[in-house]
Amino acid sequence: MDNKTILITGGCGFIGSNFVRHMLSRHPYNIINMDKLTYAGNLENLKDIENDKRYRFIKGDIADKSMLEGVFEERIDGVINFAAESHVDRSIMDPDAFIKTNINGTFQLLEMAKKKGIKNFVQISTDEVYGSLGPEGKFREDTPLSPNSPYSASKASADMLALAYHHTFNMPVVITRCSNNYGPFQFPEKLIPLIITNALADMELPVYGDGLNIRDWIHVEDHCEAIDMVFHKGRPGNVYNIGGENERTNIEIVKLILDILGKPHSLIKFVKDRPGHDRRYAIDSTKIKNELGFRIQKDFKKGMEETVRWYIENRTWWERIKSGEYIEYYDRMYKNR
Ligand code: NAD
Ligand code: TYD
Repeated sequence: MDNKTILITGGCGFIGSNFVRHMLSRHPYNIINMDKLTYAGNLENLKDIENDKRYRFIKGDIADKSMLEGVFEERIDGVINFAAESHVDRSIMDPDAFIKTNINGTFQLLEMAKKKGIKNFVQISTDEVYGSLGPEGKFREDTPLSPNSPYSASKASADMLALAYHHTFNMPVVITRCSNNYGPFQFPEKLIPLIITNALADMELPVYGDGLNIRDWIHVEDHCEAIDMVFHKGRPGNVYNIGGENERTNIEIVKLILDILGKPHSLIKFVKDRPGHDRRYAIDSTKIKNELGFRIQKDFKKGMEETVRWYIENRTWWERIKSGEYIEYYDRMYKNR
């Protein structure tokens, strides 16, 4: 696959930027990163590799058909679609962009890939498409989809379209559904970076509801490794769940961050719950482990210590974000809560 060209969409976001770096360091491919640069897309996330001869950035929207026609004029050997509106709270406040990007954008990308006979298409999805679990059980690939937020409903719609393109047009589409990621370059609206950066500034730490909702946390590097495996060895038409085998309550996560930082637990503030808040996510990763040999590498405690250190050492990165238009969002979301 030596000098193949892979199109990565949404490569300026959290997972996409980690994945672009992962691919350049592991494989000889040329990478095109097409990103709309929404509030969550940040060119600084890839500053260290921006002059790499095998890397090219194109500013563009996956929902823009004529834009895609231009990008696909050159030979593209594979597509990995990370581009999405990704934050549940924003989807509750203003779902419009979620429908446009996550549903229509994925549709336009699938159409273009079909037209060009693309041989490998990976759709990056989420465990949230399965809905919410009670205290028992885990999500398997055959668990019925039951999304509860506009975000997860839009991602489930994209999954359905991708599978339909496989079924109807025999397109070699593979879907990954991963649990909650943490690690460097995560936008500070998500739980872990929000808590770290607020705590560093001695600000209140908003915990929704009783703080006992459970997420299955995975380090972004482990997620990137899993996507790499699925891209190279995944069977077309299949879904692969990716989990961290690491269920934690939100309050446990917040306390862990405070303890790593040596900050007082009195910064915690329980606030009004998120509407429709999913109680528990847990992933059964048996399929990707047995079929592709995937194993979690990163120890959670160590991963969290490294992540906290990254935010301490990259203060200008997040301070620039937190002093910009993000302030307005933060006020709307948390001021009277
Ligand atoms: P993110 O919000 O950090 O990044 C999204 C990126 O997509 C940004 O760079 C943004 O500019 C770009 N983008 C948005 N709309 C676009 C459009 N119309 N055209 C082109 N680019 C566009 O998100 P993330 O956390 O990196 O998530 C990446 C993918 O992984 C998403 O598809 C998300 O659903 C999925 N996912 C995320 C998690 C998680 O914990 N963060 C877990 C499972 C799955
Ligand atoms: P989040 O990072 O938004 O991911 P998701 O909703 O996609 O799982 O939130 C993770 C968990 O943390 C979720 O249960 C909501 C909760 N949460 C808070 O308690 N306070 C916050 O300020 C945020 C952003 C999230």
